[in-house]
Amino acid sequence: MLVSARSFAEYRAMFALTDRDLEQRILDCPAGAAGFVAEAGRRGIDAVAVDREYATHREELGLLVERETLFKRGQLMREAPDFVWSWYGDPGGLIRERIAGARLFRADIAARPERYLAGALPELPFAEGSFDLVLSSHLLFSYGNRLGEDFHRAALLELARVARREVRIFPVMVYDTGERYEGLDRLLEELAGVGIGSRVERVAYEFQPGGDEMLVLSCAGYRAPASAAPRAAASDPVRWRHREGVPGRTV
Ligand SMILES: C[S@@+](CC[C@H](N)C(=O)[O-])C[C@H]1O[C@@H](n2cnc3c(N)ncnc32)[C@H](O)[C@@H]1O
Repeated sequence: MLVSARSFAEYRAMFALTDRDLEQRILDCPAGAAGFVAEAGRRGIDAVAVDREYATHREELGLLVERETLFKRGQLMREAPDFVWSWYGDPGGLIRERIAGARLFRADIAARPERYLAGALPELPFAEGSFDLVLSSHLLFSYGNRLGEDFHRAALLELARVARREVRIFPVMVYDTGERYEGLDRLLEELAGVGIGSRVERVAYEFQPGGDEMLVLSCAGYRAPASAAPRAAASDPVRWRHREGVPGRTV
């Protein structure tokens, strides 16, 4: 699995974040080496990052992701016609955005380590309703070819458990197929059954063609069962392609 470093600006666009949204307490899960929490901190926004990689690659993650981003520049150039460039302009714009995100992350995780917590879906180290808004980019649905429907169900319920108001997930498309996650409607129906409302919204950000939709879960009416059984996390170790010299997923 890839660790990436999207920027605050990318998050704002992917999740259609308004100034009002940014006044809330926010969780970024999984945050990877994204610059969102770092830039949020600079702006006085109360945001926390969680990712399973903080348990193992904490100190070096920012640098590894920066090198990985540079490594994939050639591949991105070759694959450029397959993507939509209205947001980034060109591959150079994407690389610049990601490098800036990784650098901000690197400085912030050193300066404010308490904002970056190791944790793995589907069990997060937070009490119920700890955040107003939970943002989740490029794990659920995106890796839908590797992470099964049971994992998705458990992860969605867990994100909803720690959110007081809303969970926003981007994208709802599987990266490898370019299609909407096949089990989405089934999952949303199940969530509705436990009091979690949902809607799919189009946003002003598209990179993978057709990938311009986020899922919004309304969690105010949801109370997680106190007796939720312990759930096992999916295991899919990170591969650093710049170390192996092999190509892989572009974004
Ligand atoms: C493609 S990155 C996305 C990072 C960030 N949201 C962004 O858009 O730049 C996917 C992240 O999911 C993390 N991850 C994978 N499985 C996880 C799990 N079960 N729980 C928490 N994080 C996980 C990986 O470590 C990786 O950082």
